[in-house]
Amino acid sequence: MEKFYQKELLEELHDIQETYGFISEEDIFRISKKRNIPKAHLYGVISFYSMFHLEPTGKYIIRLCDSVSCRLNHSSDIVKTLKEYLKIENHKTTEDKKFTLEIVECLGHCDEGPVMMVNDTYYTNLTTSKAIQILDSLE
Ligand code: FES
Repeated sequence: MEKFYQKELLEELHDIQETYGFISEEDIFRISKKRNIPKAHLYGVISFYSMFHLEPTGKYIIRLCDSVSCRLNHSSDIVKTLKEYLKIENHKTTEDKKFTLEIVECLGHCDEGPVMMVNDTYYTNLTTSKAIQILDSLE
């Protein structure tokens, strides 16, 4: 696929994601027809970029890093705690649609790990109790 074509596609997917909070099967079908791109390719693009979702997400998207540097600072304990606390697995949304949990690769603050983002806000040097306090403070 040509570069400029890819840019246009990403912009269209971005607009849909921002407007509706996710990219539906109908959207994929429509884009596939309009741009003459196989649906499998579109699913590949959507799943490659963590900002795109195929299902409605919660009000708050928690992105928790579990890459090497954070893992050395016990991010796995936070992963386990948040899954238990929210009663959801990775890439799932709580029943009340408040939180979506995503375990992700490096968030670029490796020297301050463990790190998580909630929507656009970074939280560093996390502990399990600090992570829960942060989630509890969100309305
Ligand atoms: S490894 Fe976690 S922010 Fe880089």
